[in-house]
Amino acid sequence: MSSDMDEFRYLSGFGSEFSTEDPRCPNSLPKGQNSPQTCPYGLYAEQLSGSAFTAPRTENRRTWLYRILPSIGHKPFKKFHKENFESNWDDVEPNPNQMRWMPFDFPAKKTDFVEGINTICGAGNPKSKLGLAIHVYSCNVSMKNRAFYNSDGDFLIVPQQGKLVIKTEFGRLQVSPNEICVIQQGMRFQILLSEPSRGYILEVFGKHFTLPDLGPIGANGLANPRDFLTPVAKYEDIQEEFEIVAKYQRKLFVCTQNHSPFDVVAWHGNYVPYKYDLKNFMVINSVSFDHCDPSIFTVLTCQSDKPGTAIADFVIFPPRWSVQENTFRPPYYHRNCMSEFMGLIDGKYEAKEGGFLPGGATLHSIMTPHGPDINCFQKASKEELKPTRVAEGSQGFMFESCLSLAVTEWGSKTCQKLDADYYKCWEGLKRNFTGPK
Ligand SMILES: [Fe+2]
Repeated sequence: MSSDMDEFRYLSGFGSEFSTEDPRCPNSLPKGQNSPQTCPYGLYAEQLSGSAFTAPRTENRRTWLYRILPSIGHKPFKKFHKENFESNWDDVEPNPNQMRWMPFDFPAKKTDFVEGINTICGAGNPKSKLGLAIHVYSCNVSMKNRAFYNSDGDFLIVPQQGKLVIKTEFGRLQVSPNEICVIQQGMRFQILLSEPSRGYILEVFGKHFTLPDLGPIGANGLANPRDFLTPVAKYEDIQEEFEIVAKYQRKLFVCTQNHSPFDVVAWHGNYVPYKYDLKNFMVINSVSFDHCDPSIFTVLTCQSDKPGTAIADFVIFPPRWSVQENTFRPPYYHRNCMSEFMGLIDGKYEAKEGGFLPGGATLHSIMTPHGPDINCFQKASKEELKPTRVAEGSQGFMFESCLSLAVTEWGSKTCQKLDADYYKCWEGLKRNFTGPK
C-alpha cells in the first residue's frame, strides 16, 4: 500500500507566479482577490513576504497561503538548546591555511535534521542582512511533530548521502543526492528520512538565490529555469502538539502549537521552495584551448550590491568532455580574492584524486594559494590531449563567496576531521625551470 509520502507532484519554473490547490478542496483559492471577507472552506489567508513590499517588481517575492489556522496560533518562544549551530565564528582566531576535512561522521545516537546541523564557517551577520554560513548536517531519524524555519536567511541544501523527504507549508519535495533544494527565509519545513542522511547547507542572509546572467551564452544553457521544481499544495489536518523551532539572529528558539503547521490547503505566489536535479545542468567548456574559469559552472548565485560579485555562488563540477588542445586541462594554480569552500557528493574530484572524499570538504581562503596536487600536475603535464571524459561518476561542488569566511570552533577543533597533513599534497612540486638558453 502506498502512503501519501510516496507521491510527489511539482510545478516547473524558476521565479514563476504559481497557484495550486490541494485536489481534496477544489476552488479553495479565492477568486480575483487575496483576502476576501471569508475565504473558501473557512480557511485563513496569510501572506509570507520574501522581499520588502516596495521592492522592484523583478525582485518582489511573496506568497499567499490559505490555511486551516494562521501561524500566529502558538505559545511563546523559548530557548532551544543545540550546540555548534552558528556558534560565534568571530571569536575564533583566524587561520589562513588551506583546510581539508575528512568525511563528517554520522551521529552515534538518534539525531534529527535540526539536531544534526553543525556550522563549519561563516561571515557577516543576519542582523545586518549581509553574510553567509556553511553548515554540514548528519542525521538518522525523521523530525517528529517538529518543524523548523529560519528567520535569518535561505538554506540551499545539498544532500550527499541519503534521500530527504521535505514536508513544507507549500507541499512535499523529495530530494536525493545529486539534487539540491532551496528553502527560503521563513518557510516551515520538516525533514523525514527512510535512511541516514548527510550533506551540506549554504545559508545566505538577507538576499535570495537567482539564476546567473548568461551574457554571450544566450537565452539558454547552464541551469534552465524549467528544471526547477516547486511542490503542489498538500495539506494535513492534524490536531496534535507540534514544536516549531526557529533560527533567529543565529540562535535557536522553540514554541509549541496544538496543530500541524503543514495545513495550507491552497497557495499562490512567487516566493516558494524549490529543488533542482544537477544532472539537468547544461555544461559549457572551452573547445579550443585553456581552462575556463569555474564561473561557467554556476547553478545559482546570490549577488552582492557590487556588479558581478557574489555573496555566494553555488558551482558544480559535473561529468563532461574535456577537449582543449595544447592546454594544462585541470584547474590552474591560483590565488583568489574570493573564499572557496568545496564539497564532494560522489566519486573523485579531478584535481585531487586522493584525500578529498565524498562527505568531506575543503576551504581555500581569500588569497591562500591552491591548485592541483603534485600527482595531478605531473599526469596532466604529460597526458595525450585526446577528447576525454572527466569527472565521470563524480559530482563536486563549490560555495564561493566574496566574503572572508571564518571557521568555527566546531570546524577547527570539535569535529576532529581537519586533516593536518593537507599541505603535503603540494610538497614535492619540482623546479622545472630550464634556465636561460
Ligand atoms: Fe580555487
